[in-house]
Amino acid sequence: MKIGIIGSGYVGLVTGTCLAHLGHSVTCVDNDPEKIRTLKSGKVPFYEPGLHEMIENNVAAGRLFFVTDISKIVNRCSVIFICVNTPSRPDGSADLSFVENVTKSVGKHLRKFCLVVAKSTVPVETGEWIRRTLKRTVRQGVPFDVASNPEFLREGSAIQDFMRPDRIVVGVETQRAEKILRELYASMKSPLIVTDIKSAELIKHAANSFLATKISFANGLSRICDAVGADVDKVTLGMGLDPRIGNQFLRAGVGFGGACFPKDLKAFLHISEELGVPFGVLGEVIRINDAQARYFSEKIMNRLKPLRGKTLGVLGLAFKSDTDDMRNAPSLAILPLLQKEGAKIQAYDPQAIEKARPHLKGIKYAADPYEALNGAHAVVLLTEWKEFLSLDWKRVRRGLKGRFFFDGRNMFSPGEMKKHGFHYFSVGRPSA
Ligand code: UDX
Repeated sequence: MKIGIIGSGYVGLVTGTCLAHLGHSVTCVDNDPEKIRTLKSGKVPFYEPGLHEMIENNVAAGRLFFVTDISKIVNRCSVIFICVNTPSRPDGSADLSFVENVTKSVGKHLRKFCLVVAKSTVPVETGEWIRRTLKRTVRQGVPFDVASNPEFLREGSAIQDFMRPDRIVVGVETQRAEKILRELYASMKSPLIVTDIKSAELIKHAANSFLATKISFANGLSRICDAVGADVDKVTLGMGLDPRIGNQFLRAGVGFGGACFPKDLKAFLHISEELGVPFGVLGEVIRINDAQARYFSEKIMNRLKPLRGKTLGVLGLAFKSDTDDMRNAPSLAILPLLQKEGAKIQAYDPQAIEKARPHLKGIKYAADPYEALNGAHAVVLLTEWKEFLSLDWKRVRRGLKGRFFFDGRNMFSPGEMKKHGFHYFSVGRPSA
């Protein structure tokens, strides 16, 4: 099938490339000429494992194209995915102005049937709104249809999430739209759920909010564990073995970040309030998460006070491992709090340093973990990069000035770190 992708950011690029990989002919559009130039030159504007090679292969196979102009794709594609940003407004609601602009632009150029699919996370009822906007802008008599097909991609494993999803959700109002989307995904083995458009939109809100709720639950629990000297990892293991609960997304730590959870939670809470049925638990999930960064910072401050004149060696800055994404990264909340108390920061991240620089000032960025920890009074681990598991702790200890280790991701076992000579603190587990 001929597919158009509008918005070549994270979601658009992964979706477009994977659809090309499935054999479709895909053209990705972005109104940022610099981004399109970068993509055409074979580079990817962000780090996602496997994406670069996949783009290269599909471009070489003549199935993946990049353009800046929506009018170039509108009448050549039978399906157009809207994958533009839906950033948060100050009141937490989703800003749909990019969706509005591209919808109008599609409508203006449309001359023959096309299915317009919302892929970006959008508030419930956006599908209806896209339909109305298209109706107002298309030439009289030009047929079109609208659908919702939310993405569930995790950064760092987006390609696998796309190629082998737990489910494909298709929200449609007509049999024609259902048939097209079934055909599009025909080669995929995953269960495909067909719903009305509003339900599909709500599945995305509900899934992200529920996952975030699990994380905040674990973080709330971690504070109770700290208070009584219990081990949150054991508690969540014991809970999670009940299949009704499940053990995923129950890892306590410094809190969730990224482009989706914080933004989507606020938007969903805002929608529920506007509908007059406030979903209060979501507000609490946000509050627990915001407080978790401060909670972890205070652990460090209380042990090391005064922080003035102390150097902290920071391992990891990105909001999670396997990405260079700094959006809503817990490090952005934690490090300024520590700097305010007078701490000097030396930080290393395998991928995110360039994206961290504009946001985290006054930091010495290191080329490797040993450099970041050299001369530091304490180790502060904020992202669970696998490469930290194989650090040579003897070498680290030789460079360190102190023995403190604050692990914000519960990456190591307290007993093991004690053996390496550290005074080890983590989240919701007894120290060693
Ligand atoms: C998320 C959803 O998982 C994905 O389905 C959706 O499409 C987009 O949002 P992503 O933001 O890439 O994906 O990251 P994810 O792996 O879900 O992690 C989100 C945050 O939660 C990270 O900061 C991570 O460190 C944190 N997290 C995750 C925890 O703190 N504990 C956990 O147990 C799991």
